[in-house]
Amino acid sequence: MSAAASLPMMNAGENWSSHGGGSDESGYSTLAQINGSNVGALGLAWYVDLPGQSTLEATPLAINGVLYFTGTNASVYAIDGSSGRQIWRFDPETWKYDPAKMHYIFGANRGVAYAHGRIFTAALDGRLFALDAKTSNLLWSVRTVDRTSFQTITGAPRAFDGMVIVGNGGADYGSRGYVTAYDQKTGRERWRFYTVPGTEAQNRGHPSLEQAAATWRGEYWKTGTGGDVWDSIAFDQILNRIYLGTGNPGPWNPKVRSPGGGANLYTDCIVALDAGTGKLLWYYQQVPRDEWDYDATQTMILADLVIGGEKRQVLMQAPKDGFFYVLDRRDGRLISGVKIGRVTWAKRIDLATGLPMVNPDDRYENRSAVTVWPSMVGAHSWQPMSFSPKTGLTYIPYMQLGERFSVAKPTIPGAVNYGVWVSEVAESKGDGHGALLAWDPVHQRAAWKVPLKTMWNGGILATAGNLVFQGAGDGYFSAYDASTGRRLWRFNAGLGIIAAPMTFRAGGKQYVSVLVGYGGGAASSSGFMNVGWTYGQPRRLLTFAVGGEAALPRTVASDSTATLPPIPVLDGETPEVASGRAIYSASCGLCHGLNLVSTGGPAPDLRASRIPDSPHAFWQLLHGGALLPGGMPRFDSFTRKQMMDLRAYIRAGAQAALERGRSQSPAGSAARAGSARAIGTGLIRANSETPHRP
Ligand code: HEC
Repeated sequence: MSAAASLPMMNAGENWSSHGGGSDESGYSTLAQINGSNVGALGLAWYVDLPGQSTLEATPLAINGVLYFTGTNASVYAIDGSSGRQIWRFDPETWKYDPAKMHYIFGANRGVAYAHGRIFTAALDGRLFALDAKTSNLLWSVRTVDRTSFQTITGAPRAFDGMVIVGNGGADYGSRGYVTAYDQKTGRERWRFYTVPGTEAQNRGHPSLEQAAATWRGEYWKTGTGGDVWDSIAFDQILNRIYLGTGNPGPWNPKVRSPGGGANLYTDCIVALDAGTGKLLWYYQQVPRDEWDYDATQTMILADLVIGGEKRQVLMQAPKDGFFYVLDRRDGRLISGVKIGRVTWAKRIDLATGLPMVNPDDRYENRSAVTVWPSMVGAHSWQPMSFSPKTGLTYIPYMQLGERFSVAKPTIPGAVNYGVWVSEVAESKGDGHGALLAWDPVHQRAAWKVPLKTMWNGGILATAGNLVFQGAGDGYFSAYDASTGRRLWRFNAGLGIIAAPMTFRAGGKQYVSVLVGYGGGAASSSGFMNVGWTYGQPRRLLTFAVGGEAALPRTVASDSTATLPPIPVLDGETPEVASGRAIYSASCGLCHGLNLVSTGGPAPDLRASRIPDSPHAFWQLLHGGALLPGGMPRFDSFTRKQMMDLRAYIRAGAQAALERGRSQSPAGSAARAGSARAIGTGLIRANSETPHRP
């Protein structure tokens, strides 16, 4: 008997019918036409340019030869899988409908769901849409979050058993998490499950909420709760269950949100619900009273594993906290939980109780400042991991970095604050880098590991051709031998990749597709994700086949520099600059990058913008919302003084970069002809080659 078995009816084959391939969320396809013997001849079959797009995180679905995926701000594309011809496009136009929501998150979106001729997609503003898969005609839409809440949607909905389910994000702002299941035909609500308690009145009569409320203190419904289901949801066809991966509690500082203690259920949990009723069956909490932003929202894979000679129905997850968990999915009992890399917040997981042995010295609740591994970005984030029943291995886009949490306001400018100040730390070997990690969930050890220069990389596809595909932050899309990790093929995509690839068959031929659009959380990193890609570099969908002969046009190589216009001299750190820095950190850095360094993500580098030069133009842009359709929110509550302070900060930052550029380049050549090239804070210089055919 092999050590692992997939759940056959749940796997992807000709079609890639849900976010994780099949409903087992394994990111595994039974297609084997492309395999170790011919992958070397893989070439670009076709590509499409996606103008106006920035961050691309979706895994496309393939239904009868048509690819369906979301771009930035949840615009949906339907594209013919064998030719690349666009069939239709749907834009939910959040910027018209609810532009206020655009303040909370950049326009990342991870894709659509499909069932019975309908495409389901969720917009940033919280609306869920059902579209006719053939025509894109709107069948129905519902609002799934309050207009006044902090909640937004970036995750893909999942279709199951006549229903479609969707969660939302916003835990960092303390919003109350929930998921809602709607009827696929009518959009009528079937059930809703709150992942955290509300007020006493809201909890009354709901055993799961009353049980959870006992783990919160103070007026938590006012100070914040969290637990938002912003990414992973899995449907178990065999046990008829829905599993949720819940997010962190918010605000992060537990003294602020639940003063005096409490595990804060059901945050950082895997929660099992009855699929028909939405009633709680079991939960497993990974990080009681989390204070480090360790979501449990990462890929949850359903499989059968033979452990100790016994076949177990398991759920596997490698969440942000750095452990790999295997749960018995019948009852939520922990089978194993071990570290996959550098982890300091807990020593180990006690198998008898399922509880982590938390290192008390790593709680800033007890000390004013601590440094822990993994960072708030996680040892693994939303980038899908995969599982091959053939090798019995899971494949994880692993990251290593530390984080300093400090309750006192730090001297480091630009630190993020969700009730505590944070900044990234790279002091141990491997920090700031990623890896493709093949992890054996039965023997609880790494089978092999491919170190990657970049930290922020793509999700992973595994196939029955015994191959593993992953794109990396440096722009290379690679195929590896699933058993050994030997690289068999690679392609220079000309831009960093963070999305997961997928595979499908059309006209008897197997294809592999991947979205190329660096961005996402890169903007909130102070430099470890800055590979030098810039806003505005072409975003694309690439599709490969054996013998493919298409070629990408040349694109500008990444070089970690920003071209800056000349600016008048300012006086460094004035009170205006300091005030502008605080406004920038709170309102702009999420998209334009920490400390004014845009890291190839959702928005352009403001040091290179001419708009702040003119107070009038800057005011018009912030107040009038001239660039709303492009994803730039409106800031109509700003005063003129705030606007002028912001402007001072942006110009001081540009000036500092120009000076650095001059001092670092030979003979002042950087300041030629009134314009200069300034070196950003990127630590890694990515590929300076231009794209080529393999
Ligand atoms: C939710 C993401 C987001 C946030 C938050 C955000 N921006 Fe933007 N911003 C964008 C995007 C996207 C663009 C590009 C829009 C386009 O070109 O159509 C942009 C463009 C701009 C531009 C024009 C740059 C140029 O020269 O083309 C300026 C100036 C700007 N933003 C300033 C700000 C300031 C100041 C803040 C904070 C008060 C801010 N932005 C917050 C997303 C954001």
